[in-house]
Amino acid sequence: MKDESPIIIITGASSGIGKAVALKLAESKPKIVIVARRQKELMKTAHAVKRQGAKVLPIIGDVRNREDRERVVNLTMKAFGQINVLINNAGLGKANLFIDQPDEEIDELIETNILALIKLTHEVLPIMKDQGKGHIINLSSTLALLPPYPFAVYSATKAAVKTFSDCIREEVKEYGIKISTVYPGPYDTNFGNVAGYGKSGFQGYDVLKLAEYIAKLVSNPKEDLIKPWFFVPLVWMTKFSRRLKRKVVSGIAEEIIKAKRETDQTLKLKEKKQVETEILAR
Ligand SMILES: NC(=O)c1ccc[n+]([C@@H]2O[C@H](COP(=O)([O-])OP(=O)(O)OC[C@H]3O[C@@H](n4cnc5c(N)ncnc54)[C@H](OP(=O)(O)O)[C@@H]3O)[C@@H](O)[C@H]2O)c1
Repeated sequence: MKDESPIIIITGASSGIGKAVALKLAESKPKIVIVARRQKELMKTAHAVKRQGAKVLPIIGDVRNREDRERVVNLTMKAFGQINVLINNAGLGKANLFIDQPDEEIDELIETNILALIKLTHEVLPIMKDQGKGHIINLSSTLALLPPYPFAVYSATKAAVKTFSDCIREEVKEYGIKISTVYPGPYDTNFGNVAGYGKSGFQGYDVLKLAEYIAKLVSNPKEDLIKPWFFVPLVWMTKFSRRLKRKVVSGIAEEIIKAKRETDQTLKLKEKKQVETEILAR
């Protein structure tokens, strides 16, 4: 019997949303290619996926790197001969006031969240066009729709993901290729630590629940997925009221700034204590 299980690439599967999606999808036994930089963490995902009976190909790589992106596509084609679904999930945020934001941080955000996503999509689309079918799922954010100021560059990259997805959706539909955009609100992952604010006062939603919705999107593609659900009416209402939009985004901004200040203070205290311990030990 012909093996009809789909071949799915997930970038950024060493933690958070990407890892949860890989584990959820593994239940239906597809062939999954997972990509990330942290070898140990990625291998943990690979073992967990394998334990569920799905075939897995882990690729250690940086999506910002052209050779790594080419390796992902070439190794997938060599191992499985097709690419049915690409989940462009690898990404990060950096909570910072734009004026203070280091240049390298701006580069990392743009190169990871949008440039790498566009370039990997560009590599994969001709293969999907030849196949006459395919599905690309791009991770944006609700911050693309409600952008708070300490996340200016991050929100801009995620708004670019939305615009890019909307444009190519129209271009590639004639080849049987579907494009979905996912807009998550605050989910409990490593995002806050990488972004430098740790935990904010906002409730972090269950990433396993989001993974279920994204897995459903794979079998039943739709254009946009906004989760948790209440962001749908909220975003809709802010389209009609600038006052409400300002209130919502400044509420998010203040909470992020507060959490970042507390995290910075905790870090400074830790460093101070370490220096004191080192001096005492001399
Ligand atoms: N959690 C949220 O609240 C939230 C909300 C809206 C949108 N999102 C989006 O969801 C996506 C996943 O984030 P998350 O919340 O799951 O955060 P996370 O737990 O920090 O996971 C981020 C993943 O991206 C990978 N990654 C980052 N830079 C990479 C690079 N240059 N090359 C390869 N992989 C890279 C990381 O792996 P390595 O570090 O091992 O490379 C990790 O596996 C991101 O695009 C994020 O913007 C998250």
